[in-house]
Amino acid sequence: MSDQFKKEAAERAAEDVTSGMRLGIGTGSTAEFFVHALARRVAAGLDVIGVPTSERTRDLALELGIRLTTLDELPELDLTIDGADELDAHLSLIKGGGGALLREKIVASASAEMIVIADASKVVETLGRFPLPIEVVPFGLESTRRSILNVLADLGLPRKLELRGGAAAPFETDGGHYILDAHLEAIADAATLADRLVAIPGVVEHGLFLKLATKAYVAGTDGVKTVLPM
Ligand code: A5P
Repeated sequence: MSDQFKKEAAERAAEDVTSGMRLGIGTGSTAEFFVHALARRVAAGLDVIGVPTSERTRDLALELGIRLTTLDELPELDLTIDGADELDAHLSLIKGGGGALLREKIVASASAEMIVIADASKVVETLGRFPLPIEVVPFGLESTRRSILNVLADLGLPRKLELRGGAAAPFETDGGHYILDAHLEAIADAATLADRLVAIPGVVEHGLFLKLATKAYVAGTDGVKTVLPM
């Protein structure tokens, strides 16, 4: 069922795309439905150019005939459409379940608008049930891990970090970094946590997307709802 909802949200977002748009194209299973919906419109004559947020999305978009470029060629975008692991009423997000958070955040930040596409199970009152991905450089991993744990302790959050993929074969992002997933349960003050995490030298980025999304399409049993930030 959730696949059907993801598809409905993605197809609704594809209707918002107009000819001439410079698009950021997200990553994940919901974003993949969007890429397919966009490709159908491109085949029917829609003229857009996109910047993908991962190698995965790049490969799929090229295969389906969507014209792509890079942020170096096109540093400012009109609209990014991407999925999320969690979203709240302010359209604060947790992203990075698929490991593409760094490129996703760079692309979303370069866009005038960001539409989130999600099935209704992703909507939460307080962010944090989904483990927060924190992208770190492999150099000095243990020191970075300790610095993150200290921040979590300072903010009264659970000190539970997991190296994605495990120590023997850590998951590597498109940028060659590792991911520490923080099991926080409930993030009372996402802005403070975000600031404290990026201040740690070994942290490249984290999956809290604050004040980036401008609209969400959330699909559930009662159709696709448009959500604007509270
Ligand atoms: C990828 O890194 C993520 O940020 C995805 O956007 C997020 O995990 C949502 O993925 P699904 O659409 O597959 O649920």
